[in-house]
Amino acid sequence: MTTSRFLRFPAGFTWGATTSAYQIEGAWNEDGKGLSIWDAFVRQPGRIERGETGNVAADHYHRWPQDLALMSELGLGAYCFSIAWTRVQPDGYGKVNPAGLDFYQRLVDGLLERGIQPWLMLYHWDLPLALQERGGWAERDTTFRFADYAQIIARHLGDRVRYWVTHNEPAVIAFLGHFTGEHAPGIQDPVIALRAVHHVLLSHGYGVQALRAILPASAQLGIILNLYPVYPASSSPEDQQAAQLFDGVQNRLFLDALLRGQYPLDVLQHFTGLFPEAHDGDLEIISEPMDFLGINYYTRAVVRYDPKSLPLQAELLFPEGNEYSQMWEIYPQGLYDLLTRLHLDYRDAPFCPLDWYITENGVPVPDGVDFDGRVRDERRIRFLRRHLKALHRAIQAGVPIRGYFHWSLMDNFEWAYGYRMRFGLIYVDWETQQRIIKDSGRFYAEVIRRNALETAE
Ligand code: FCB
Repeated sequence: MTTSRFLRFPAGFTWGATTSAYQIEGAWNEDGKGLSIWDAFVRQPGRIERGETGNVAADHYHRWPQDLALMSELGLGAYCFSIAWTRVQPDGYGKVNPAGLDFYQRLVDGLLERGIQPWLMLYHWDLPLALQERGGWAERDTTFRFADYAQIIARHLGDRVRYWVTHNEPAVIAFLGHFTGEHAPGIQDPVIALRAVHHVLLSHGYGVQALRAILPASAQLGIILNLYPVYPASSSPEDQQAAQLFDGVQNRLFLDALLRGQYPLDVLQHFTGLFPEAHDGDLEIISEPMDFLGINYYTRAVVRYDPKSLPLQAELLFPEGNEYSQMWEIYPQGLYDLLTRLHLDYRDAPFCPLDWYITENGVPVPDGVDFDGRVRDERRIRFLRRHLKALHRAIQAGVPIRGYFHWSLMDNFEWAYGYRMRFGLIYVDWETQQRIIKDSGRFYAEVIRRNALETAE
C-alpha cells in the first residue's frame, strides 16, 4: 500500500520563480531603450542557434499584466526579475530614460498589488553596448558606472522593493563572456576573463555601498552565484587536484572573495601573472556585508586530470548510466552535497550572510502541447520532486535556506541555444505568444499552497 507523506518546509519559506530581462522582455528597441551587448551579439552570424534573437522573446514588455495574473494563479510569493540597464540608462552612463523606469515601476506596483514580493536584480548579463565600447568588464570604470546605475534604480524604486540583487552569476559573466566566448561580448581571452571576475565582484561591492546609502535599513541585499559540487573522477591524486582547482575557479574564487575578503591562494598561484593586481582596499569593498546569498544550482561537475585541457588541466566527465537533460546531468544529490559543504566551509566566514536562497534551479524539457491543450511535462515534475526532496534534507541538516525560486517562470530565450530550451513552468507558443500553465506549474502551485512536498512512500 502506498501512503503519502508531506515534507514540510519552514514557516515563512519563500516560493518564487525567476526570469531575466533579455530572455523574456523583447521590445529590444522600444521607448528609448539603448542597445546592450546581447542585442549586438545575437546579430553576429553563428553565435545563436538558428540565428535566433531576443528581439521579441516572450513579449513580456507588452504582456506583463497577463504574466502577473499567471504568477497569481501559481500562488508565487516572490518573483525575481532583472532590469535591462539600457532601458533605464541607454548608454550605461549619463542620460536616464524615464520610460524605462516607468516600465519597472508599473511591474513592481503590479507585483505588490498582488502580494508578490519583487526581487529586483540589477544585472543579468545585458551590459550597455556603449560601456562595452569603452572596455566593458575589463575596465575598472565600469564598476563606477554600475554603482551609479544602482543609485538611479534605488532612488526610483527603493521605497517599494525590499530584496535587491546586484549580479547574477559573475562566473558566467566572466568565463562564458570573456574566456569561452559563448556569451556576449564573445571575447576569448583569459586575462580579460580574470579582469572581468575582479571588476564584476568589485562592482557588486560598490553597488552594495551605493544601495545602502539610499535604501531603508530594512532592505535586503545580496548577490547570486552559480555553484557546483565538484567530484574527482577517481581517488588518484591527479584527479583530486584537478577537482580542487576546478572548485577553486568555479566556486571558491567568488565565495572566498565575497565572504572572506580574500581570493583563494591556490587559484591565484595557478594564474600567476594573469590575475589582475587588486588595488588596496578592493577586497574590503568586494566583501561588503550582505543580507543574503543566492545560489543557482543546475548540475554537478565530475572532473578528471587532463594535461591537455587548458587552462585548468581538468576535463569534465559525464558518467554513464545517469540521467541527463538537453543541457546537463540531472543530479539532485548534488544540491544536498553542495549546500551542506557550503554550510560547513563558509558559515563561520566573516562576511557570510545568515540567509541563503536557491535563486535558480530548473531543467530544459522539449515540451509540447497535447491534443487537449495541456502540457504534460512529467520530467520537470520529477526534477522538481527530486530537487525539493534534496533541498528539504539540506534544510533538515541545518543549512539556512529561506526560499526556493524555480528557473523559470516561463519559457524564454535561452542565450546561445535560442528558443530550443524550454525551462518554464508556463509554456509559451512562439508563434502566437499564447501562455499555458504546464502540469509542472500546477504541481509547483500545490507545493506552494501547502508549503510542503507530497511524496509517495
Ligand atoms: C542560468 C542563467 C539563466 C538561464 C539558466 C538556464 O545560468 O542565469 O539565465 O540561462 O541558467
